Amino acid sequence: MIATVVLICGLMASALGASFETRLDTLACGNYTMTEGTRLVIQSPNFPKNYPVNQRCQWEFSCPVEADNYLDIICPKFALQSSKDCVHDRLIVTSRGQRDVKCGTDSPDGTKTSTGWARFTFFSNAAITNTGFRCYIWCHAK
Ligand SMILES: *[C@@H]1O[C@H](CO)[C@@H](O)[C@H](O)[C@H]1NC(C)=O
Repeated sequence: MIATVVLICGLMASALGASFETRLDTLACGNYTMTEGTRLVIQSPNFPKNYPVNQRCQWEFSCPVEADNYLDIICPKFALQSSKDCVHDRLIVTSRGQRDVKCGTDSPDGTKTSTGWARFTFFSNAAITNTGFRCYIWCHAK
C-alpha cells in the first residue's frame, strides 16, 4: 500500500504568521514512499507526553531510486526508558548494512543511511515509559 502523505512546507507555515505553531503531520505506523528532497515526520505515540506501555509501531521508508539516494535522520527529541542492551523500550533503525538499537538518550539523530530505504521499529514493554521521540526523515540525492 502506498500512502499519500501531505507535507506542510515551511513557506506555508511562515505565511500563516509567527504566532501560529507549525503543524506537523506525523505518520501512522506503515510503509511510505518518499520523493527525493522531501521530509517526513514520525513520533512515538502521545509525543511529547509519555508513550503508553505495550506499544509496537513500525514505519518503512523508501525513496526511489533507492541506490541513488540516502536518508538523513534527524531526531531533536529522544528519551526512552534506559536499559542495558535496550531490552525494555527501544527504537530499532534498520537500513542497508546497518541495524541500530536505541534507548535511553542514545538517539539515532544524525544517522545517514547508505541507500534510500530504512525501517523504524518502536517497542515499549509493560512498565516504565518516557517522553519518547520525534524524528524527521529526509530523502536526499547522493
Ligand atoms: C511494509 O513492507 C514490508 C516489506 O518491506 C511488508 O512485510 C509489510 O507487511 C508492510 N507493512 C504494511 C503495513 O504494509
